[in-house]
Amino acid sequence: MSHFLDINKTDPAALREMVNSAHAMKTARKGLPKGAPDAGAPLAGRMIALIFEKPSTRTRVSFDVGARQMGGQTMVLSGKEMQLGHGESIADTARVLSRYVDLIMLRTFEEATLLEMAEHATVPVINGLTDASHPCQIMADIVTYEEHRGPIGGRRFVWSGDGNNVCSSWLHAAGQFGFDLSFTGPETLDPDPRAVAFARQKGATVDIRRDPLEAAIGADAIVTDTWVSMHDPESARERRHNQLRPYQVNETMMARAKPDALFMHCLPAHRNEEATDAVMDGPQSVIFDESENRLHAQKAILRWCLGV
Ligand code: CP
Ligand code: NVA
Repeated sequence: MSHFLDINKTDPAALREMVNSAHAMKTARKGLPKGAPDAGAPLAGRMIALIFEKPSTRTRVSFDVGARQMGGQTMVLSGKEMQLGHGESIADTARVLSRYVDLIMLRTFEEATLLEMAEHATVPVINGLTDASHPCQIMADIVTYEEHRGPIGGRRFVWSGDGNNVCSSWLHAAGQFGFDLSFTGPETLDPDPRAVAFARQKGATVDIRRDPLEAAIGADAIVTDTWVSMHDPESARERRHNQLRPYQVNETMMARAKPDALFMHCLPAHRNEEATDAVMDGPQSVIFDESENRLHAQKAILRWCLGV
């Protein structure tokens, strides 16, 4: 049984196998209607619980559709409507759910909640985003980068904005897949030093730059995310906007990157805040491919977790 909790906690060979498997499954389905079953129905007989303690569009729909395409059955549960949201412990919830379902996907706030679920579940647990990381998103993003530009190894990515949960998973991926990452943002919103240390210890070059236009020079891809995440207090909104405005990804910043650089964003976006319409809808943007590839990448993750 394998949990998928974070990119830095998963063996690089397994990560590469999942990315390749996602590519292959995507190719095999070309032209099929979304509801058509995959050949071989690898998840036949499997029951999957998808638990959300935060809102979601992509994660929720892509896991649900992906599991069904592979012949599995799913249930989407809201944390608030479960006893979990009314005082039952995570450990007991994990033990109970393990008697009903074959895999648990959890989107939650604190990383500790996810880890406790994984510790006490007797079925695989997948991280569908915590305040600390978002590994499924970055697996999809690696599939996306590679389908447009070939192997990601040796490239230089620029993260512009908040050093948040998505940024941490990019740093984990830099270490595991062997690419470099420049962070550009205000000092108060620097990335998690543990994620920076992980990437560096694995041999990736990670630098922190305060000047966004200087950081963007020669980039293979520029990536950003919302300025206010779901776990950030509403009271921080105005301060974050003021601090992050200079790090908006716009045409001036994209012009500093390589001519074939990609623009990436996990979505949902706040258009004309962290990135302009011109960039989001421009020729270098692959944002909707990233969304589609959540489906293919997570199917590969589900298969790896279940060993099928
Ligand atoms: N990117 C992402 O995880 O989107 P959702 O919040 O819609 O799931
Ligand atoms: N950083 C964002 C990502 C949403 C997919 C958040 O946590 O809200």
